[in-house]
Amino acid sequence: MTSSADHDILIIGSGAAGLTAAITLAERFKVLVLAKGAISGGSTAWAQGGIAAVLEPGDTFESHIEDTLVAGAGLNRRETVEFVVENAPRAIQRLIDLGVPFTLEDGGDLHLTREGGHSHRRIVHVDDATGWAVQDALEKAAEANPNITLKPDMVAIDLIADRNLEQPSGKARVWGAYAFNRATGHVETFAARATILATGGAGRTYLFSTAPRGATGDGIAMAWRAGCRVTNMEFMQFHPTCLYNPQVKNFLITEAVRGEGGQLKLPPEAPDAGHRFMPDFDKRAELAPRDIVARAIDHEIKRFGLDYVHLDISHRDAEFVKGHFPNIYERLLGLGIDMTNGPIPVVPAQHYTCGGVRIDLDGRTDLAGLYAAGEVSESGLHGANRLASNSLLECFVFGEAAANHIALCWDDFPPPPTVRPWDESRVTDSDEEVVVQHNWREIRRFMWDYVGIVRTTKRLERARHRVEMLRNEIDEYYGNFRVTPDLIELRNLLEVAGLIVASALARKESRGLHYTTDYPDTLPKAEDTVLTP
Ligand code: FAD
Ligand code: SIN
Repeated sequence: MTSSADHDILIIGSGAAGLTAAITLAERFKVLVLAKGAISGGSTAWAQGGIAAVLEPGDTFESHIEDTLVAGAGLNRRETVEFVVENAPRAIQRLIDLGVPFTLEDGGDLHLTREGGHSHRRIVHVDDATGWAVQDALEKAAEANPNITLKPDMVAIDLIADRNLEQPSGKARVWGAYAFNRATGHVETFAARATILATGGAGRTYLFSTAPRGATGDGIAMAWRAGCRVTNMEFMQFHPTCLYNPQVKNFLITEAVRGEGGQLKLPPEAPDAGHRFMPDFDKRAELAPRDIVARAIDHEIKRFGLDYVHLDISHRDAEFVKGHFPNIYERLLGLGIDMTNGPIPVVPAQHYTCGGVRIDLDGRTDLAGLYAAGEVSESGLHGANRLASNSLLECFVFGEAAANHIALCWDDFPPPPTVRPWDESRVTDSDEEVVVQHNWREIRRFMWDYVGIVRTTKRLERARHRVEMLRNEIDEYYGNFRVTPDLIELRNLLEVAGLIVASALARKESRGLHYTTDYPDTLPKAEDTVLTP
């Protein structure tokens, strides 16, 4: 089945990056936005803490740049950091214009909170549910725009490359994507003059992640298969404080809780129960960058054989805590935890994919006609470790940058040639769904055990071996059976797991989020890990 080309540009992903690009482009063009589930199903809606921008008197761009570079452990591209930081206040203003109800001080100024690694109060937020408010405002603006079509429940499978044309030209260019329509069960062809990947991160390659179910790295895998370089995939960020609870596996406790005074302590099961341990690891204590805090927690958990540590803000006034964290407070209360009166059990969990599809300052990838923005990309902003609340910001700045570049160069984008439809003639329906479910679980388990917060070469080799074994099985399965959303995601999970493991093995040092006991030192020269298909 082939969709008619009633759009100029295809955007895959409807989070902060995709919708920002769509709203910018819709001033001139017809835009189609695909989401693989609900339009608000990405990580954007789940963001709690906020968005970093220099807005406090006394704060400076230079200070935000410096904090970003320090967190990134020398691997950031300075021009990208400058570009994003300097565009931040304007990005916030655009959101205010779209109606995002940022939390205000009594006097009417924006309330700025603090997070790890920031040397100033710099985070604008909507209580503790910033992402939801941002997603809602972007979605309303997109829905109201006649030039934007939002299509939920469309699972992009692969980009349309030269080899998918009726008459291949030999040029390295992308012409849209094939996507599985959940409603009809058929694969549709979405040809476009330009395509933006805004598919978010790959958190679900890990057993424990704060990210939503759909964060399976689809965009990274699709771009890699189409021929794009993928960079710095070893830098997986683990958030230090995910709720530890047998029923609720991925509820984040925002870093702003530590920003407002929350302390990390040993739980009753540890010999030194109640000890506040972060000052033993770093002079910035709970506000050290995330890699340091997550590693310290991991260290204490392993040292004492614990299941979790405690995050305690109960020493602060109860009304202050409820006022600042109303959603977290209510959610925890529903689980029998009163954060105004006692500690919260927390563990680190995968949280953010720093690496991704390599882009330049215009959001361009290696392939003509293909752009990327947001968590799917590696722009040079985060380096070896993302500074808290810099990622939504990156989505706004690069969503707009990609859109602007497409508009600027529109006359260079030819209309798409005839694309071959998806070929299902040699496949049948699967009679062994268990293979998909089993392999999903297996990948996430070995990635957690072997490619986690602290790594060794031996464990990484084990992970590589498993990737290779599963590759044969999954390729064979993919070649013989009709695609389903789970199978599409499984294929991508494995692709991305392979990229993470290959990147981690290639880095013979410890830097930022990548820590290996076999190479504990940081090399004098910071170099990107660049994987080329
Ligand atoms: P997403 O918002 O994840 O959207 C991805 C989109 O791509 C979705 O629409 C999805 O359906 C679509 N998609 C994916 N695959 C396919 C496919 N195959 N076919 C079709 N569509 C597809 N960052 C901050 O800066 N501040 C915070 O406070 C903050 N808090 C966070 C809290 C949590 C719990 C989490 C998980 C992340 C947080 N982050 C935060 C990170 C931030 O939310 C994300 O990096 C950011 O929202 C990513 O936006 P995005 O537009 O790139 O992708
Ligand atoms: C948080 O609220 O702790 C998440 C902030 C972020 O991921 O940037």
